[in-house]
Amino acid sequence: MAYLKPDKPEKVFVPALREAKEKGEKLACLTAYDYPTARIVDEAGVDMILVGDSMGNVIHGYGNTIPVTLDEICSATKAVKRGASRALIIADMPYGSFHTGDDEAVRNALKLMKDGGAEAVKLEGGRNRVGLVNRLVDEEIPVMAHIGLTPQSVHKLGGYRVQGKTAEAAKILIEDAKMLEEAGAFAIVLELVPREVAEIITNELTISTVGIGAGSACDVQVLVLHDLIGFTFGRQPRFVRQYANVSEVITEAITRWMDDVRSGFYPSEKESYGLPDDVELGEPKKAASK
Ligand code: KIV
Repeated sequence: MAYLKPDKPEKVFVPALREAKEKGEKLACLTAYDYPTARIVDEAGVDMILVGDSMGNVIHGYGNTIPVTLDEICSATKAVKRGASRALIIADMPYGSFHTGDDEAVRNALKLMKDGGAEAVKLEGGRNRVGLVNRLVDEEIPVMAHIGLTPQSVHKLGGYRVQGKTAEAAKILIEDAKMLEEAGAFAIVLELVPREVAEIITNELTISTVGIGAGSACDVQVLVLHDLIGFTFGRQPRFVRQYANVSEVITEAITRWMDDVRSGFYPSEKESYGLPDDVELGEPKKAASK
């Protein structure tokens, strides 16, 4: 087990995104929901970590993001914060945490910042969230917006489909992006939108676009870590490129361990503790007769 963290390059704060965009440098963002993955992702050099409500699908097995609670996001953010020292940490505002009024939304966002240690929050929605984004930014809470496919709207949308495919729908997305920039968002996630639409938005905004299933023009790419490393179940969306198969690695390790347990090969003497040489136990007591 390594106890020392390697030296970190400079910590990423919100303004770094604009600087990177101005220089034409692409950034990388991954999700993390716990200490070990945050630590691995951070030490690998990822620029931003999203404590996404995708945890609903990925680690809670809910099937969608609707049931995820503020407490779940807050607790995950605390763990991620302990594991990451360089990446910008963004906490997702879960369904229901910003829908009942701006005061309540501010309170919940502040909880993620104060208790969770988030450095920014993300929330889903277009023009309907412009007032709220404005308010949050006024309260010193950096906001990353999220348009295109917004998984919290799954029941309204009737599934997970590419958004902005007609000229009319694309125009609405582009307008929404501009309104959210105007409201003060420092970045906008574009999820499942045609690459041409993402390119227009990226070129027309001064803030960063964070693409997932939105093509290569976006300033930042984000993926769910578990998709990238093959630690998920079922069919993956077409935008996922799987770079490892961690599920297979885990299954193989467990299978080998079980074989060793069953054959008595595990644990060996090396993996157990003996008494000090000067301790004598004497004769073991006989079991009491019934
Ligand atoms: O919750 C999440 O992980 C997200 C990303 C997929 C952008 O919203």
